Amino acid sequence: MATRWGICSTGKISHDFTVALKTLPAEDHQAVAVAARKLEDAQEFSRKHNISKAYGSYEELARDPDVDVVYIGNIHPHHLKACLLFMNAKKNVLCEKPLAMNTKEVKEILDSAKRNQVFLMEAVWTRFFPVSEEVRKLLAQREIGEVKMIRSEFGIPLLHRPRLVEKELGGGALLSLGMYCLQFVCMVYNGERPESIQATGVCLDTGVDETVIVTLKFSEKRMAVFTYSSSMKLPNDAIIVGTKGTIQIPSWMWCPTSLIVNGKETQYPLPEPCLPLNFHNGTGMRYEAEEVRQCLLKGLKESPVMSHSDSLLLIELEDEIRRQVGVVYSQDCL
Ligand SMILES: NC(=O)c1ccc[n+]([C@@H]2O[C@H](COP(=O)([O-])OP(=O)(O)OC[C@H]3O[C@@H](n4cnc5c(N)ncnc54)[C@H](OP(=O)(O)O)[C@@H]3O)[C@@H](O)[C@H]2O)c1
Repeated sequence: MATRWGICSTGKISHDFTVALKTLPAEDHQAVAVAARKLEDAQEFSRKHNISKAYGSYEELARDPDVDVVYIGNIHPHHLKACLLFMNAKKNVLCEKPLAMNTKEVKEILDSAKRNQVFLMEAVWTRFFPVSEEVRKLLAQREIGEVKMIRSEFGIPLLHRPRLVEKELGGGALLSLGMYCLQFVCMVYNGERPESIQATGVCLDTGVDETVIVTLKFSEKRMAVFTYSSSMKLPNDAIIVGTKGTIQIPSWMWCPTSLIVNGKETQYPLPEPCLPLNFHNGTGMRYEAEEVRQCLLKGLKESPVMSHSDSLLLIELEDEIRRQVGVVYSQDCL
């Protein structure tokens, strides 16, 4: 039986996610309903993606008995409210990253998932690409020996997008871009908490972070460094340096389709989209969707690849980076 998806909100990422679902077998994945704040937006989205039900409120989607799991694609200051709405209605949830604005909000979401006994995952899609699976396999086999250093970058000029600039829209480059570098470091070091973290950078006049360099020190003299920026294009690759070799992930490291292991490159092509996409390699969201299906089939409440404790570590480190750079959201003051 197909996993029946409800799509919450009709913005850019919801479009790409729905296109990605179509690259999977229809007998496994179906988008059955969509909800937006305005009914016309939901109706337009449903026509474009051939979805049978369109709702003018998220509450109606939460009440739909034909929905197994809701994909939440609205902007992050509204993730907490949406997550609580759907999970209290006993819906499983895949919520776009960042899961919420700060640790306090993430803890509230994780508590609700446990209380309601529903599946919940932060949509860190990168972790489910075949390239990432291969990286985890190579690390487990100690293919490059002991990892000593990680470097990664994510920088794209995006200051024309209000969502990256305005504080009340969840602006700031860390939660939109830098978190991909951070989650990569956390994945490679297997969820270990760093011994120290140092962030230095520049902010926009709106008070959100624009370009930041972060250095992390782990046990056993292991290091990581990453740079992120919403004002400039960076090389956007990643490298893991071990005692016996290197693993390189060429641009774009957050949606990777090739891998270089000790100089030898392998390609992992993505399927073509049926409609134009808003973001690079958007059809790669198919892998996180399939992970959700597999977890639901197994009766799991969280994914072992992007677990609740992974989300918690990520947001705690993000809070610390923001504290050092001087970014405060209204949600931090509640
Ligand atoms: N995985 C990825 O690669 C990726 C890429 C881009 C973004 N994202 C994440 O996805 C989320 C959405 O990003 P996006 O680029 O798709 O954003 P977007 O198109 O600007 O907005 C998405 C939706 O958020 C709701 N929204 C927008 N402004 C709002 C406001 N002022 N108040 C209340 N709701 C508002 C709207 O929902 P309605 O349709 O219901 O009105 C809108 O359609 C963000 O959390 C972002 O971090 C992930």
